[in-house]
Amino acid sequence: MKHLLSINDLSRDESILILDTAAELARISDGPMKKLPTLRGRTIVNLFAEDSTRTRISFEAAAKRLSADVINFSAKGSSLSKGESLKDTAQTLQAMGADAVVIRHPASGAPFRLADNQWMSGAVINAGDGTHEHPSQALLDAYTIRKHLGKGAKDLAGLRVAIVGDILHSRVARSNVLLLTKLGAHVTLVAPPTLLPFGVDSWPVIISYDLDSVIPQVDAIMMLRIQQERMHEIFFPSAREYSRYFGLNRDRINALNPNAIIMHPGPMNRGLEITADAADSARSVIVEQVSNGVSVRMAILYLLLGGAPIEGGIN
Ligand code: NCD
Repeated sequence: MKHLLSINDLSRDESILILDTAAELARISDGPMKKLPTLRGRTIVNLFAEDSTRTRISFEAAAKRLSADVINFSAKGSSLSKGESLKDTAQTLQAMGADAVVIRHPASGAPFRLADNQWMSGAVINAGDGTHEHPSQALLDAYTIRKHLGKGAKDLAGLRVAIVGDILHSRVARSNVLLLTKLGAHVTLVAPPTLLPFGVDSWPVIISYDLDSVIPQVDAIMMLRIQQERMHEIFFPSAREYSRYFGLNRDRINALNPNAIIMHPGPMNRGLEITADAADSARSVIVEQVSNGVSVRMAILYLLLGGAPIEGGIN
């Protein structure tokens, strides 16, 4: 594996290797030595051409905990979305000796262009491209689900996961469907028909328009943000109506299985897809998803860049 562009790049075993490596790295990071020397001397560039809080700082923290040098390059307001300037940027990164580039870009496919064109020799990691994919998010979600519900299993066989809301604009949903089903979970997508993508009937999922009937049947429920910045038409009559039919609130939490967990990739629209009490409830693992994200991204960087053996752990 040279790049991480899509969950399709990973076999089931490689996905499990990333989750196992992340678990091992989390175990080591909990010990006295937070920082590992394994990527010392390597340079990782965070190239963010779209807004991000969690993913950017998570990759930065992951790289720093592995002792890599990190360069943050946020291209807000620049003309990066044009193919030619992406090429120029890539050549600049190559000249700077980047061993890996973590790229977030509003254009679906941008990380593939970077990886395909041999503009640079380093590893390319997709940190979210348009509405297409967000593989590291899916990996941290699978890690979180396995940790809570996996009962020591390697994969997620038999677990039932609902992904609810703005599937149409969600790269998180796309990557999660690919990964969760690869790991044996059963996925149900719940959304109004207007927020489901064209061709969704060929995805390996069950589709439902009725959240209340799905709620009691799932082990994990993943709420998605309504992505207003990608909405140029009206997809539902009003925010109030959306919350009523598709929002997670106290009554719906009470109807969940006793062990079910509540997830959200963040950032949340509190009061729209999720109420504050649902987000902050004891069932919510939303904050933990963020900390798991650092371990999972450490594992991705470590495996892609072939770090030095970790003392007392992976080699
Ligand atoms: C997601 C993203 O950017 O795709 N957020 C994230 O990476 N934590 C989801 C979102 O923006 O709603």
